[in-house]
Amino acid sequence: MFKKLAIEGGEPVRKDPFPPRIQFGEEELEVVTEIIKESMKGNEKLRRYSGPHVEKFEEEFAQYHGAKYGVASTSGTAAVHLAVAALDLEPGSEVITTPITDQGTVIPILYQNLIPIFADIDPETFNISPNSIEERITNKTKAIIVVHLAGQPADMDPIMKIAKKYNLWVIEDASQAHGAEYKGRKVGSIGDIGCFSLMSGKHITSGGEGGMTITNNSKFREKMRSFADKGRAFPDRTNFMFLGMNYRMTEIQAAIGRIQLKKLPQIIATRKMLCENLRDSMSSLRTIKFWKIIDDVKPTYWFCFFKLDLNSLKVNKEKIVEALNMEGIPVASHYFDVMYKQPWIKNRKTYGRSQCPWSCPLYGKKISYINTCPDAEKAVKEHMTLMLHESCTQREVEDTVKALEKVENHYLK
Ligand SMILES: Cc1ncc(COP(=O)(O)O)c(C=O)c1O
Repeated sequence: MFKKLAIEGGEPVRKDPFPPRIQFGEEELEVVTEIIKESMKGNEKLRRYSGPHVEKFEEEFAQYHGAKYGVASTSGTAAVHLAVAALDLEPGSEVITTPITDQGTVIPILYQNLIPIFADIDPETFNISPNSIEERITNKTKAIIVVHLAGQPADMDPIMKIAKKYNLWVIEDASQAHGAEYKGRKVGSIGDIGCFSLMSGKHITSGGEGGMTITNNSKFREKMRSFADKGRAFPDRTNFMFLGMNYRMTEIQAAIGRIQLKKLPQIIATRKMLCENLRDSMSSLRTIKFWKIIDDVKPTYWFCFFKLDLNSLKVNKEKIVEALNMEGIPVASHYFDVMYKQPWIKNRKTYGRSQCPWSCPLYGKKISYINTCPDAEKAVKEHMTLMLHESCTQREVEDTVKALEKVENHYLK
């Protein structure tokens, strides 16, 4: 029934590439043109606070995600930085987070002279494990940054319970999970502060790069708005109250973001349909499994994880990935390696040769990350990823299933 694999010279399942992702339409073009045209008339409305869009985008984004306030910024990393800075923690405090995430989750922790502590993951969902969080808590722990990986909400109830028990702040990094729901609530509005990347690879974008941080806490909102504007005091705007950054979003970015936000429900619906069709169609596979989705959540599938049973396959993961790529399916070998194996963290390359803040007397502890998250290290070896974005169709789902079946059948022990 199965033909020769493409990697061995056979016919591939498909010859044409997956469709490119088309994110923009006439609406985005029109709004950008309008703002530039105004500027051409001497009516410059590009900067933050020069027009209506940034403020409106903040309101609309927060409202969609079930929060009172939004603070726009220039990237997802900046969005997390606003959140961490708003907590105003003493240097050397510990912040627990997941080892499987983008650098943008961890960079702000170190910039604020705080110490990242990595909790292990749930090996089935790849999201942070609540039990592991609790094991990592010390008298220095002040906050948890949860990541909703690949669009699947982390298990927030036990995490919020732990946070309450130990009096910790919870930041949700929802950079990969715009609009995802946990028990009927949108992620980002469950913890104290929620952060989103609006970089163009994400569900929606504010024109290539951007970020948004949401909260129900008015004090955090004030702090974040000032931090994103060099520590500026509001509303008088003439004094600068603390060390901040310039993370101001532009009017063009926000105008694009507002249009994209309107498209988000349709983007989510299409991805859900495609990814869940894929999940159902590959249920009879024995060695390549769609990753576990927990009960009572609505993931938004930034990408899909597949978990491999390498003991039942004759070849390693790289060979499976290569064989699938040759069949025309753009799976990737894995997301990122565990955070503490990244050279900058392994070598503690921060400020000159100081290794601050790890070496800071205000921290006063020596820690090692080696082998601290065995389940995360194992997950990296056993998973591969595929993005089924909203410009894909049922054909991409069917081809993926055909290729997975063909490759599994060939390499099954
Ligand atoms: C979980 C997570 N946090 C933070 C970021 C950083 O976002 P940006 O690249 O927009 O700075 C990303 C980006 O991929 C992310 O996936």
